[in-house]
Amino acid sequence: MALQQKGMHGTWASRWTFIMAATGSAVGLGNMWKFPYVAGSNGGGAFVLIYLGCILLIGVPVMMAEVLIGRHGRQSPINSMNEAVADSNANSRWRSVGWLGVLAGLLILSFYAVIAGWALDYILLISSGDLQGINGAAAGAAFDNLLSNPGRLIMWQTLFMALCVIVVIGGVKRGLGIAVETLMPLLFLMMLMLLVFAFLKGNFEAAVNFLFSFNLDALTWRGVLEAMGQAFFTLSIGMGAIMAYGAYMPQDANIGKTILIVAFFDSAVAIISGLIIFSIVFATPGIEPSAGPGLMFISLPVAFGSMPGGLLIGAVFFVLVSIAAWSSAISLLEPCVAWLMEAKSISRAKANLVIAGTAWVLGLGSVFSFNIWSEYKVAGFTYFDFLDFLTANIMLPISGLLITLFVGYVIKREVIDFEMQGTSDKVMEVWQFTIRYIAPFAISLVFIMGVYDKFFA
Ligand code: PHE
Repeated sequence: MALQQKGMHGTWASRWTFIMAATGSAVGLGNMWKFPYVAGSNGGGAFVLIYLGCILLIGVPVMMAEVLIGRHGRQSPINSMNEAVADSNANSRWRSVGWLGVLAGLLILSFYAVIAGWALDYILLISSGDLQGINGAAAGAAFDNLLSNPGRLIMWQTLFMALCVIVVIGGVKRGLGIAVETLMPLLFLMMLMLLVFAFLKGNFEAAVNFLFSFNLDALTWRGVLEAMGQAFFTLSIGMGAIMAYGAYMPQDANIGKTILIVAFFDSAVAIISGLIIFSIVFATPGIEPSAGPGLMFISLPVAFGSMPGGLLIGAVFFVLVSIAAWSSAISLLEPCVAWLMEAKSISRAKANLVIAGTAWVLGLGSVFSFNIWSEYKVAGFTYFDFLDFLTANIMLPISGLLITLFVGYVIKREVIDFEMQGTSDKVMEVWQFTIRYIAPFAISLVFIMGVYDKFFA
């Protein structure tokens, strides 16, 4: 077994580029759109605490394990996993982990592009000035208007997918690397600006109270499952994205430290987004924090429309969301593209068109589930709800569980020791303990209770 492989896709320019890329992948709609509304509908504080606990006790160890497998194989998640399985003389069924991840990634990309399209649309909508001073009903109607128009949704979905292709076609160094090195600093700058605005003009205190006051009554097992699913989703783990990015990580970068930085950035952005959104929402009478998916697209525009200078800030906000979604979606596209290049020996450009085209077609189902197919429901799910639930709450936990078991019990010791060189004994001990005992137990428990709660309680 060769401990150090050479990959065909290249490596990031530096450890810092990996941090930017992984943070770019992690920070996305999950942080800005989903986290605030899921926290909102689960009552705030207690949910946030469980979420942060999941990030630290499950997310970080699993993320380290994924990066380790990726960097060992230096290929797409599917082939890196194959490599780790072969090098460890493990049962070939373990290979399914790579497939499960990449499939989940493709499904997520398909609906992610649709939601990101909403954000693109809202940049124009809010800049047009039409939302000045509107009330909740009018904002709801504006949002419904967008959702009921498949042509408009498809246009934005297509444009967003094209933006992703443009980056991923450039390859690891010139495409992905340069994109994240430009986009991430921009994202942090805009975020800071919005935070200052929220602090000065919003109801910051109410937002802090809401996010950090401990309201246990509002929490259910389903909420705990959502917190864990959200931790997986937001860290981009369980779906090949981080494994693929790990495959391009320089060999001398310390996995543990690097991943802790990424997890810190990601959690910080989720909390800051929550603070921004709820400060603005609470500053406007009559808007509920538990508005659900419409929080960002209905409640927030009302709030922006009622504040002096709000529409300009609102436009900046939706540019920020679009950038965050963009830097995430490229990490969903890359694993499949890398795999197709390896499997069929085709060019990066061709692989991009095939994968993006497939995701685009799958995404049409999500587009239609907001309009012409909105009546078709299976077990209460529309096509979009189903994909969202299936990926975040079923596929990602299963894939995460398998990764913890594989790296905890199956993978050859030499691989771990080689990839984790320079990690202190104490950190190794804690990581091994969490990946062997805490994470598998917690994932299984939460998964079983959450699914039971959802379907049988
Ligand atoms: N982490 C991203 C977010 O929070 C979503 C994502 C998942 C991106 C998986 C890439 C891979 O929005």
